Amino acid sequence: MNLSEKPTHSLILKINGTDTILKIKPWTSLLDGLREYAGLSGTKKGCDHGQCGACTVLVDGKRINSCLTLAVMHDGHEITTIEGLGTLENLHPLQAAFVEHDAFQCGYCTPGQICSAVGLMNEGKVKTEDDLREMMSGNLCRCGAYSNIFDAVKEVINHKTGVLL
Ligand code: FES
Ligand code: FES
Repeated sequence: MNLSEKPTHSLILKINGTDTILKIKPWTSLLDGLREYAGLSGTKKGCDHGQCGACTVLVDGKRINSCLTLAVMHDGHEITTIEGLGTLENLHPLQAAFVEHDAFQCGYCTPGQICSAVGLMNEGKVKTEDDLREMMSGNLCRCGAYSNIFDAVKEVINHKTGVLL
């Protein structure tokens, strides 16, 4: 990011329930808007071009790769990041399941995996284990924790929906 140029655009994002005014450069990605301007570093930058899913957040409840979209396109939208899903005292069920199933090693992909799984549950399309694998396939894990990630997400889907995969 070129820090020498001054931000020229103002927008309001409702981030994790709070209206947040950002003054940004117009070409700022939503990912950089969150990390560099809103100070929310939970969302991770992996590839920065739509291939790893580390930057997944929820926009109006739908999962999105935040590196592939401009922040200015989301003026007035509701953004949920990993910081908005739970607290240390009250983890989101997916966060608790990731801990219980040891579903991470370095943890770099984890915020994106969890936000993606929340979006996937909002979509309500998973009916089988293969569906789950396919619909989480946009989130890569360099540590290869896939089987434990799968178990964690599957457990929460089954608990929430009663659908046995
Ligand atoms: S950082 Fe966005 S998909 Fe990899
Ligand atoms: S836990 Fe390390 S990249 Fe997934």
